Amino acid sequence: MRGRDVLLLLCLAVIGLLGTSAFGTTVTYDHRALVIDGMRRLLFSGSIHYARSTPDMWPDLIQKSKDGGLDAIETYVFWNIHEPVRNQYDFEGRKDLVKFINLVREAGLFVHLRIGPYACAEWNYGGFPLWLHFIPGIKFRTDNEPFKAEMKRFTAKIVDIMKQENLYASQGGPIILSQIENEYGNIDASYGAAGKSYMKWAASMAISLDTGVPWVMCQQSDAPDPIINTCNGFYCDGFTPNSKNKPALWTENWSGWFSTFGDAIPHRPVEDIAFAVARFYQRGGTFNNYYMYHGGTNFGRTTGGPFITTSYDYDAPIDEYGLIRQPKWGHLKDVHAAIKLCEVVILATDPVTTSLGPNLEATVYNTGPYLCAAFLANIDTQSDATVSFKGNSYYLPAWSVSILPDCKHVALNTAKINSVTSIPEFVYHSLKDNVDASEAALSSWSWFSEPVGISSDNAFSRNSLLEQKSVTADRSDYLWYSTSIKSVGDEVFLDNGAKTTLQVDSNGHVVHVYINGKLAGNGKGNNGHPKVSIQVPITLAPGKNKIDLLSLTVGLQNYGAFFDLTETGITGPVILRSSSNGSSNIDLSSHQWTYQVGLRGEALDLPNTAGSSSSSSVWTSGSTLPKNQPLIWYKTSFDAPPSRKNHTDPVAIDFTGMGKGEAWVNGESIGRYWPTYIAPNEGCSVSCNYRGVYSPSKCQTNCGKPSQRLYHVPRSWLKPKENTLVLFEEIGGDPSKISFATRIVKSM
Ligand code: GAL
Repeated sequence: MRGRDVLLLLCLAVIGLLGTSAFGTTVTYDHRALVIDGMRRLLFSGSIHYARSTPDMWPDLIQKSKDGGLDAIETYVFWNIHEPVRNQYDFEGRKDLVKFINLVREAGLFVHLRIGPYACAEWNYGGFPLWLHFIPGIKFRTDNEPFKAEMKRFTAKIVDIMKQENLYASQGGPIILSQIENEYGNIDASYGAAGKSYMKWAASMAISLDTGVPWVMCQQSDAPDPIINTCNGFYCDGFTPNSKNKPALWTENWSGWFSTFGDAIPHRPVEDIAFAVARFYQRGGTFNNYYMYHGGTNFGRTTGGPFITTSYDYDAPIDEYGLIRQPKWGHLKDVHAAIKLCEVVILATDPVTTSLGPNLEATVYNTGPYLCAAFLANIDTQSDATVSFKGNSYYLPAWSVSILPDCKHVALNTAKINSVTSIPEFVYHSLKDNVDASEAALSSWSWFSEPVGISSDNAFSRNSLLEQKSVTADRSDYLWYSTSIKSVGDEVFLDNGAKTTLQVDSNGHVVHVYINGKLAGNGKGNNGHPKVSIQVPITLAPGKNKIDLLSLTVGLQNYGAFFDLTETGITGPVILRSSSNGSSNIDLSSHQWTYQVGLRGEALDLPNTAGSSSSSSVWTSGSTLPKNQPLIWYKTSFDAPPSRKNHTDPVAIDFTGMGKGEAWVNGESIGRYWPTYIAPNEGCSVSCNYRGVYSPSKCQTNCGKPSQRLYHVPRSWLKPKENTLVLFEEIGGDPSKISFATRIVKSM
């Protein structure tokens, strides 16, 4: 090592020592990197959202992240799970944010805490609690006093908790970075001048909380100093921060994509992620966070969207069940190791890029003849190339980067995978026969028929059709809209041979039409088109006819300008049409409608009381099990599926045979199930070409199959024997077809 290089390293070390405060770690930044205790740091980070797994999974997920070469874990904070009722906070169990951060600290990793408190994240209502919607005069995410007051109160609450627990790096804790808002710059134009002043207010409110560590705003090119504006996307190598004093940080490198009911499953090839990561560090980046590193599960009714699946697997390096996904995890680990070999020189200097030909680039980090690292990139989407660099020749496959930690030897080419491949599989366990005592045993089923229409004393009436979430406050997915019509004077609708239909227009997301207690038809939307517009053929009887419309939401909108105001439910019109005598219509939209929020079974708290003897009078058993009938609650008990020796194999329920609904194990909701929502036949490719710009529609699988048929049951929710399973089946299904599986990975 030459004298100049030694001097440089010594200087960095001395700055490092000076930067250490007596009580904790200083975190600042300069134009190259985050500076921790005076040392620039090159970091890899990964998103794990604590509420999408269980506390007993956390240590293993964090360890696997560390083993994969991560230095930091990123998580959002989900306001709506922590403050379900205004001023009533909940930080227990899966919501124990402090415990999660302490586990990350114990593993020796840093934390990036994205407080938001708007999260997006395919999380219900973007993370906002529904009560916020009902505050008089409130307007979300703009310069509005009631909103700002609530946002400040919650943000300050989280910062206070972190401070009390000494979790900021400035206090000796692991949190090195915090985020305020989320991608507001993508939509702020829709809010006009008030959007700009809100953004500035959010920035200064965050700074005033005095965390001692930097704040970031992602996708906010005008984030005011000292807030760092950061990049989110599939590629961020073209990103430059808004000041020469700020480093290039990549807060969301999408490792895959989320899936939605009714769509195929997206996959992002690891060669492309590796290429994107290498390109980012090549062009001067020093912090990359994978969104997601472990996606996990949207338990309960936490999915947003609408129509986001219960699985939030995301094709991430660690799969939904907590198992390593290969070769993604391993190849990225190799990429991290190769880039870390260049760390000292990358941090010591600025990159210099030259062209080696069309779509061929060499970037050199050089502080002298002995400290040199290079990245050679072929960004052509088709042609491989051989390039000459510093007197040697290098073969560069299309869409790849070679990393040369000494400017000579290739430590890794992003398109060449050395890591093992592994094939995860589900092993099914017989539940019905209980032939083998070691296998999970399912006892017989009991059931409860959910009444059609209004059954509650709390129902109320209006002469109009109401927006759904304004009525339900999202206490339930379900809202009954009930009315009746007398056929007197409307005989045209009873004419033999006349076609009578009921037109129902809903803003989403699913509608079931009952006429005189019988299911007459239904309709559903999807993620791209949540609205439902159906014409249901119906038959009316002479006299009074009951019309009961069951409308439901499947996760509230989480993204976009004014997303919080997106309407749901049947706002009409609802029109009765007859083809007889030409055509004749009755618009029922301003009839008297009676409303009931939620189901009888929910009011009876069946998911939580099913295991107790007090609820036994509600349930029927012994006679024939109702199958393929709508609106049935089912319950049974089962023994935990076995694990292989020395393993704790994760458990899933396969809901094939069922329609749509929600399931609870020992009172814990494992989420909405919907195995009958099938992905389109088209849009999947047998092979996946990683070369070229990725988009979620590029490498899909699962066409023509259910978007999700297997649902995660965390092991920690299971007892060895006599677990209670409760289902609410909305459309109709055969619970005897349900099966249990455990997930194992075999390496090749
Ligand atoms: C981003 C957003 C994340 C997540 C992601 C897609 O725009 O910041 O919260 O929604 O998209 O998974």
